[in-house]
Amino acid sequence: MKHLLNLSLALSVVLIAACTKDEVTEDQPNKDCLTAYTYDADISMIINDNCVSCHSGEQPPRLTNYSEVINSIEHVKAEAITEKTMPQIDNLPAPLSDSDIEKLNCWINQNTPEN
Ligand code: HEC
Repeated sequence: MKHLLNLSLALSVVLIAACTKDEVTEDQPNKDCLTAYTYDADISMIINDNCVSCHSGEQPPRLTNYSEVINSIEHVKAEAITEKTMPQIDNLPAPLSDSDIEKLNCWINQNTPEN
């Protein structure tokens, strides 16, 4: 009987440890890029909402669709993620939200899937 008690005690400890670990992961879903992002589902709206107002005409680079974004991906990464100089308002940097930067960065690290 004592053995059984010890066993269930050990089991509870393991279970509690497992649950705690899950909660941490759920709180920070993007921490290790655990979510799979695609251009169509996740990235196009970030670019459309924050970049296309300026980058769809005379102001290069054009960023209105997947292939245009991919053509400039190194510059997009540099401006929006590394240096945070884009987007801008009145010629001043107005960086993306942390969660949008995280999504963009994960998507680039996941080799920029389209859909
Ligand atoms: C309000 C207008 C505006 C918005 C919004 C904007 N940009 Fe720009 N962008 C500019 C202007 C003006 C330049 C050229 C001058 C400069 O580099 O500051 C530029 C230049 C760039 C360049 C080229 C930099 C280089 O010289 O290599 C990239 C890449 C870029 N923007 C990406 C983005 C991305 C990505 C977004 C959205 C996250 C964005 N921009 C939002 C106005 C804007």
